[in-house]
Amino acid sequence: MSELRDSIHGQWSGRWAFILAATGSAVGLGNIWKFPYITGDNGGGAFVLVYLLCILLIGLPIMVAEVMLGRRGRRSPINTMYHLAKEEGRLPTWRLLGWMGVVAGFLILSYYAVVAGWALAYLSRAFGGGFEGITPDQAEGMFVGLISDPERLLAWHTIFMVMTMVIVARGVRGGLERAVRFLMPALLVLLLILLGYAMNTGYFAEGMRFMFQPDFHALLYRPDELGIMHFTWAPVMVALGHAFFTLSLGMGAIMIYGSYLPKQSSIVKTTGTIALMDTAVALLAGMAIFPIVFANGLEPGQGPGLIFQTLPLAFGAMPGGAIFATLFFLLLVFAAWSSAISLIEPLVAWLVERKGLTRTAAAVWSGLGAWLLGLVTIFSFNIWSSPEYQFFVRCADTEAGEECSGMTAFAVLDYLTANIMLPLGGLFIAIFAGWRMRRASSVDELGVGDGWLYRSWYLLLRYVAPLAVIIIFLNAIGVLAF
Ligand code: PFF
Repeated sequence: MSELRDSIHGQWSGRWAFILAATGSAVGLGNIWKFPYITGDNGGGAFVLVYLLCILLIGLPIMVAEVMLGRRGRRSPINTMYHLAKEEGRLPTWRLLGWMGVVAGFLILSYYAVVAGWALAYLSRAFGGGFEGITPDQAEGMFVGLISDPERLLAWHTIFMVMTMVIVARGVRGGLERAVRFLMPALLVLLLILLGYAMNTGYFAEGMRFMFQPDFHALLYRPDELGIMHFTWAPVMVALGHAFFTLSLGMGAIMIYGSYLPKQSSIVKTTGTIALMDTAVALLAGMAIFPIVFANGLEPGQGPGLIFQTLPLAFGAMPGGAIFATLFFLLLVFAAWSSAISLIEPLVAWLVERKGLTRTAAAVWSGLGAWLLGLVTIFSFNIWSSPEYQFFVRCADTEAGEECSGMTAFAVLDYLTANIMLPLGGLFIAIFAGWRMRRASSVDELGVGDGWLYRSWYLLLRYVAPLAVIIIFLNAIGVLAF
């Protein structure tokens, strides 16, 4: 039945175009900026292990389901969910799942563009040879100088948002597909060069130990304001959330890319390829960064500035560093760009379908909205960074007096979207595809027959993935109630 249905937004020219675009969506700031810093924040090896398990047992089966729903529905996620639910004899309220994704994508784009703006700022620095002979203190000063300057952040944020909207306005064939073709191989090469440098720092073994030797105590125990260690499930939730974030799952981005996938392409094979490339890029980034962190006596848990305070040290010290730095930040911007377009695509497609807007108008309006909301993130690093502008603030009496800390608006946005909304979206995708859709429909759409491959996927999708998400959620809520 679904062969008769074509997406009104166009179609990929083939399986490889889809793989490239979906990889472009998956590989982004999440792999190179976020993965290393949250690994550093959460104690290293055990976090990486939980993250990899989440990818394999939860992310992969849900990704197959999301692409499958997209290709069967062939519309924006909201309308895809609505029509598939009707087709399967289920309630039309399933469209709310599409709505949650649209909202999540919009919220994520608002801060994603700010961080991509940092990459643009660093690109301009790199181009001017600004990292040569840089010391750790100078690198820190450079980063802090950038994020504490709202005007500069705003300028770069604006440039990135305009870049994104231009590509989105040009549409699937014209814009999205071409942008990613050369990006992935080039990014891999640059990461390998950085890895080569990291191997020669003398701290490679230490970096590898940090990333791959699981220490569950470091993952599950956190000091409170007074330095007393407490058990917490929150880092497991971060690992789960990141599995969704990094694969662009749970919000309809992969669903809408799936809706442009030709019928004859194999969903299972393509999805596996994408997840593999995405994981490889993240692990490579971590393997390159941690040795540099240790070689310079830096803290792995220094938060969102990690790559911006460590990579310039490597580029500043290696021969030809200015060229490599320029190339690296250029590729990082491209990687962020090809992810950003997919964050807003579900909203844009819906505006075109339901409101009859042209793609350009839809792109401009949604971009303007996300740009405005981005101001909240920008200010959360400077004029709103003090506890009086924070959320969930907790204070403690220490020897130095009362100390308060909480979550900045940026941290709240990140936590809410990546760690709550995306896994929740993924959970409902698993429930719909595994429990509400007829088995015959998924057998038909996946096209791999009813053998072991299908059955293993179905098992993971119906039981393992949803239960794991629910268990992690319940534990995290239990901890929050402490
Ligand atoms: N996967 C992207 C990254 O790792 O940077 C971020 C992202 C893109 C998340 C698209 C969600 C999404 F729908």
